[in-house]
Formats: sequence, structure tokens, C-alpha cells
Amino acid sequence: MLRRLHPDQPESFAFTPANQDWAEAQLTKFPEGRQASAIIPLLWRAQEQEGWLTRPAIEHVADMLDMPYIRALEVATFYFMFQLQPVGSVAHIQVCGTLSCMICGAEDLVAVCKEKIAKRPHMLSADGKFSWEEVECLGACANAPMAQIGKDYYEDLTAEKLAEIIDDLAAGKVPVPGPQNGRFASEPKDNLTSLTEFTGEARNGSVALAVELKDTVKRIDGTEVPLVTPWQGKPPAKRKDAKVVPSKPGLAEVIDETGTTMDEAPAKPAAKPQATAKEAPEGRKPQLLTGAKGAADDLQQIGGVGPVLEQKLNQLGVFHFWQIAAWNAEEIAWVDDQLNFKGRVARDDWIAQARALEEKKEKDKN
Ligand code: FES
Repeated sequence: MLRRLHPDQPESFAFTPANQDWAEAQLTKFPEGRQASAIIPLLWRAQEQEGWLTRPAIEHVADMLDMPYIRALEVATFYFMFQLQPVGSVAHIQVCGTLSCMICGAEDLVAVCKEKIAKRPHMLSADGKFSWEEVECLGACANAPMAQIGKDYYEDLTAEKLAEIIDDLAAGKVPVPGPQNGRFASEPKDNLTSLTEFTGEARNGSVALAVELKDTVKRIDGTEVPLVTPWQGKPPAKRKDAKVVPSKPGLAEVIDETGTTMDEAPAKPAAKPQATAKEAPEGRKPQLLTGAKGAADDLQQIGGVGPVLEQKLNQLGVFHFWQIAAWNAEEIAWVDDQLNFKGRVARDDWIAQARALEEKKEKDKN
């Protein structure tokens, strides 16, 4: 498959403040002058933020690491884990198509994806919720056929089971990952022949952790405490809301508002859920619609709005230039919150752009 940048790119990229802090903390893991080694985690975080890796994001990361753009592009286009085109807003499904999975029914799983999502890999479903691709062996061959959905593996799949999982995800549910045929892990399907003392747990370790973390299809959002490599002996990048507390022994020097210490951070990532549209204070919401009034405007005409942002705006209930043109400062702040991108609206002056586009539309009508 050709690994090319998507033809339709947003104007710009910036990390959210929390992700920026996290990215700067990553740089402390490497000796002076070797910061380029952080390229993969930074590109990955950019992808987690936006859903896919845009050209402005790749260039932004290259700038942070003082690398020529071509070097960052080489990395982004080499590794298949980087998605170079928009992915489904709910889930991107990666079906293993290598030997074990192929002889155990991977083609049937691909057929389900074609039928329920899109005819071709890397295309969005009609509702924008899903995308799929076939990938090489994901190392779960004993549980073939399988697919990775978000961060977890769904194993021992059948076409019917995968179709059910997709339906559940579309309905906002997250089915329990792991073997889907009743197996605990990758033991023989009949009787255990060894390790017979390890019975009785309801779920294997990976599945239990997936259920506990609940992040199968949730993107990392930067709300965890930025972790600084302890042996560098540098203070961690502080978020605006982080507090310095009296020292405790060991690595417990700086914590966030949850009281998490540096050495606790990897085991207990702080879970500060982002405000959802439902949770946001009503008074700050702009006028939102349940659907477009007539034909929706092409919001991508606004500089800074690419396909992903347009999709997010539509999901929020924004379909028209006139809606954006009417936002006041509080409403802009609400939209920034929802887009997880503070300052995005103001920086590209969406309001002025939307007004001009609306005026032009009216003029063209007359
Ligand atoms: S062949 Fe599919 S996981 Fe290895």
C-alpha cells in the first residue's frame, strides 16, 4: 500500500496544553542533542489527539525536535501504526490478515468490514464512525482470527461476532475484549493439559486490565501526569493547574491536583474525564442543531477546518456558517473545550471567516 499523506489536510496543528506538557516531558528522557529520539511518541500523541496524523502535525513535531520535515515524514510514512488519513470517530478496526488468521477466517472478517463499514480499507463509513484496514500479524495467532479495535484485541472471532461488536460500538457500548468464544486465553479449546492450577479467574490479565481502564476506543487525552525520566533528575513540566507539594521521599516531589506522585503516575494515570457536550454548562453552549437546516454548509471552506474538525462540528450540532458567525467569547470557549483544542477558533478567526462566507452565500443567492 502506498503510504502517502492525505490530499485533504487541515491548515495547522498544535498540541493541547496538556499534551504539550506531556510532549515536553518526553524530551527529558533523552540526552541533550538526542531529542529527535522522541519522534515516535510525539507523533503518536499527535495522532491520539487528532485521530490521524496530519501533515501540519508531522511538521509541528519536526519543529519541536529541530528535525528536517523529511526526517519526520520518513518516520510517519514508514510505520503502519500511523494513520495518514482520517479514521472512524468511534473506532478504526485492524483485521489481521496473516497466515493463521487467514486460514481461520480472516477473509470473512474483512467481508464484514466491507459490508458494514466501507468497501475499501481506510475509507470512512457513511456515518463517519468507523474505518478499517487489513494488517500483518498482531501476535495473537493462537487466537486466530482476530482484530485490534482501538487499543485492545478481539480474538477467536467469527463474522457474526465481529458484526455484533461493530453494532455494539455504534450503539455506544464497548464489548469486552479478548477471546470471543469462551476461551480464557490461548489454552486448548478442549481440556487444559498444563498449568491446570491457574483456573478460576474470570478474565485473563489483558482483558481484566482493558475492562478496568475502559480505554479500548478512548483516545489518550493528555490528562495523565506528565512523566519525567527520574534519572535525569529534572523537574517535570508543570501544567498550569499542577501544584508543588512538600517533598516526600523518593520521586514524590511534584504532583497534580489528584495527589498522584511521580512514581505513582505510571501505575495510576490520573483520569480526569473531559467535559462532554452533555456535561458542559448549558449557558456557554452556542446554538446547536440536531441536523442541518437544508443543505449543510461546507465548513471546510473555513481556514483551519479540515475533514476531522468538520465531522466533530457536525457531531456537536454545527452545520452552518451562520451558526459559527454568531458565537460569542463564552461560546467559543465551549467549542474549544469540545474540540479539545484551546485557541483554535480564535487563532484562525473562524468567526470572521464564517461571516464572510455567509455574506458571500447570501450575495450569490441574490
Ligand atoms: S496471524 Fe493473525 S495474529 Fe498472527
